[in-house]
Amino acid sequence: MTVDVTSPCEGAAGGRRPVRYARPTLAARAARVLRDNDTGAVITAAPRLYPHMWSWDAAFISIGLARLDLPRAVAELETLFKAQWRNGMVPHIVFTDDDAYFPGPDRWGTDTAVDGPRNVRTSGICQPPVHAIAVQRMVEIARTSSPEERADAERFARSIWPALYSWHRWLVEYRTPGSSGLIAIVHGWESGMDNSPRWDVPYAAVNPGDELPPYVRKDVRVIGDPSERPTDKEYDRYLWLIEEMRRAGYDQKEIVRRSSFLVGDVFITALFAVSCDVLIELGTEFGQDEDKLADLALWASRARDAVAASCHSVSGMARDRDLRANRWLDTQTIAGFAPLLCGGAPDEVQLRLLSLLDSDRWCGHPGLLAPVPPSVSPMRPGFNPRQYWRGPQWPVVNWLFGWAFERRGWHERARKLREAGLRLTDDGAFGEYYEPFSGEPLGSTDQSWTAAVVLDWLCADAD
Ligand code: SER
Repeated sequence: MTVDVTSPCEGAAGGRRPVRYARPTLAARAARVLRDNDTGAVITAAPRLYPHMWSWDAAFISIGLARLDLPRAVAELETLFKAQWRNGMVPHIVFTDDDAYFPGPDRWGTDTAVDGPRNVRTSGICQPPVHAIAVQRMVEIARTSSPEERADAERFARSIWPALYSWHRWLVEYRTPGSSGLIAIVHGWESGMDNSPRWDVPYAAVNPGDELPPYVRKDVRVIGDPSERPTDKEYDRYLWLIEEMRRAGYDQKEIVRRSSFLVGDVFITALFAVSCDVLIELGTEFGQDEDKLADLALWASRARDAVAASCHSVSGMARDRDLRANRWLDTQTIAGFAPLLCGGAPDEVQLRLLSLLDSDRWCGHPGLLAPVPPSVSPMRPGFNPRQYWRGPQWPVVNWLFGWAFERRGWHERARKLREAGLRLTDDGAFGEYYEPFSGEPLGSTDQSWTAAVVLDWLCADAD
């Protein structure tokens, strides 16, 4: 599909689904969002709420950009990886000069971190490892284009491969404590699913000390309805964990030893397993070192085993593990479907998960505007259709499942998720997330990663 970036796409975005755009206009609008959010240095995650580069946002953004402007897509990931820490960590935020977001670089205080990057300011935690997936997708997209683009994309994949490998190695070296084999997070923000009920129990044990320096939230000034965002109490805990890390000088071993939040994240572990597979595919094609390929195979297999071992014996749902309290966390969130991303669980468990996903507890719920999996089951007590990761639907999560299903050969399922994602987003507002029953866009509008995945869906349908 050729995206006509010059086609008119005026009209107020946002609000309660004023219109349904036809596909070429929707594509033009998505392209416009990516162009308008481009500062020249980075594509910000969203215009006002998120005026910096976020790690997993940048990966999805590159996939969308690859449909429009491959060199710009390459530059985006190169910018992110220039901020990679010397120990291999890819930071969750690379800061621009904009000071409209809190917590900014001064609050993170990573400038003096031993392993931090030079000449760029970043946060001190990570986000899900979806970057290899993005690179492979960029190569696939470029292969549908000209021989020059194909060569450029392959050159890029070859050159970024070692940095991707060292990012994966960091996750293994620093973030697989204990025997569960799950990749551990030290802050809910690392999961990308900030205030998901997944973290309620471990966060209850995080007690912000009196020494928590005062702060003023900026997110609730941007988002008119604060009930769509995490609560102040949650924010106190988020900020307290940052305080603990600052005090530890961002020494990862020390943080993992002492942080008051340490949870094995099953969704990240599944993404890690499949991202290792992707890195092996890229590395095999581009002649990377055999030993490193063997490492990746081992890491993928351990991660897959850990995901399978987490599955609940009755529901089949994968579970996070509180590594401080040493117990499984049973929540009915989208993360429970992690085995469907990476495989490895017994067939019978995966079939149970697929039928659960189709049931009225999830995508088959009769009230949904579009059968996109919500972040939390609408049948779960405490489900909140408007609050951040406690109920709304997230187009990027839908993209991930669709991508994984396509990869696993489940083409019809993948097509259905793509259609559902496009139905949800055809209002052209590119919401950060959506109210599942009305389809109202929530959080930020003109969210870059939403525009990016919509572009990828539209172009994939036209390929
Ligand atoms: N998602 C977080 C926020 O809302 C940061 O990663 O600020």
